[in-house]
Amino acid sequence: MLENLTAQPADKILALMAKFKTDPRSDKIDLGVGVYKDASGTTPVMRAVKEAERRILADQSTKAYTGLAGDPAFGAAMRDLVLADSVPTERVAAVATPGGTGAIRQALELIKLAAPKATIWLSNPTWPNHPSIVKYLGMPMAEYRYFDQVTRGVDFAGMLTDLETVAAGDVVLLHGCCHNPTGANLTYDQMSQVIGIMQKKGAVPLVDIAYQGFGDGLEKDAQITRLIARSFENCLIAASCSKNFGVYRERTGILMAVAKDPDQQALTQQTLAFLNRQNYSFPPDHGARVVTTILTDPDLRADWEDELEETRKTMLVLRQQLADELKRLTNSDRFDFLADHRGMFSRLGTTPELVEKLREDHGIYMVGDSRMNIAGLNAETVPILAKAIVSAGI
Ligand code: LMR
Repeated sequence: MLENLTAQPADKILALMAKFKTDPRSDKIDLGVGVYKDASGTTPVMRAVKEAERRILADQSTKAYTGLAGDPAFGAAMRDLVLADSVPTERVAAVATPGGTGAIRQALELIKLAAPKATIWLSNPTWPNHPSIVKYLGMPMAEYRYFDQVTRGVDFAGMLTDLETVAAGDVVLLHGCCHNPTGANLTYDQMSQVIGIMQKKGAVPLVDIAYQGFGDGLEKDAQITRLIARSFENCLIAASCSKNFGVYRERTGILMAVAKDPDQQALTQQTLAFLNRQNYSFPPDHGARVVTTILTDPDLRADWEDELEETRKTMLVLRQQLADELKRLTNSDRFDFLADHRGMFSRLGTTPELVEKLREDHGIYMVGDSRMNIAGLNAETVPILAKAIVSAGI
């Protein structure tokens, strides 16, 4: 049987991560996978996470199953964090999932059941695992323009033109904040226009929000998602806790589905639980319990928010330093977009050949499409990167 297998395409981000590990150079710089690192290159366990884990270890009296949707307290805490009061609680169905990827996967499976012919519209570019999963599930897929190669901002006119061609019932995947891989984001007003087109066309939004708190702050980063949630009868939201709680390996995420009314919510909730059962039964609990403990305890929550803010500001400082250094070296403002981008990533907007040159000549690893993880930098490596960018002729 197994001889019939053919090799599957390697995930570009994970392949790069493996390549970095085997590079013997001691001065190599990892700007690949989206994992936050502090100035010493460590991905720390957040203080509030440590404390929540300590409490769980001390107090947890059972490891019995929770429910197919996960612990309802996690659902409620995440609904508040992401959606606040944008939609009535009784319209929101939710299931815990293994990370944000699990949430995306379950969202697509739900769409497959509810609207098997719907085309899934993805931004060009998007996180490579989006098209990979859509393709794997055999769902129709299309792209809308997103990145402006010249300004390194959003190609908003192109995006609107392409969204004018979506059909009724199609699903448009939007990034809630901190667009991955570009770092270029829509303003609130621009998103209002996108929503207007989608409403006119009868399209359904699927929001991927994996970096809430990494862009302009916890509340501001959720604004677009909340606007979308209250603008449509139906909408799907895949949220990840991997980055903002730093619980990457615990696989903590949630899929929320906004239904038209409580009856539709009940049917959706039942379907989501069914889908969890088919795929992995009960979702992982530990990370979700840590997140719930933090979000529901005022002191832990305040500490978590503080540390998240420190993390966000660190990335903003690094962005500004890199933009300034490049301005100094090139005597031009063509890299100013780095300071305007938000979140963990920025797309430099150069060729795969020059990305490879950076890797070979300087040991600087970024994804082939020139996505850099800004959090992989520190005050010492910013000038090294800037110099390498200039000497590579980017
Ligand atoms: C990334 O984009 O680097 C992260 O979301 C990690 C991943 O799973 O790809």
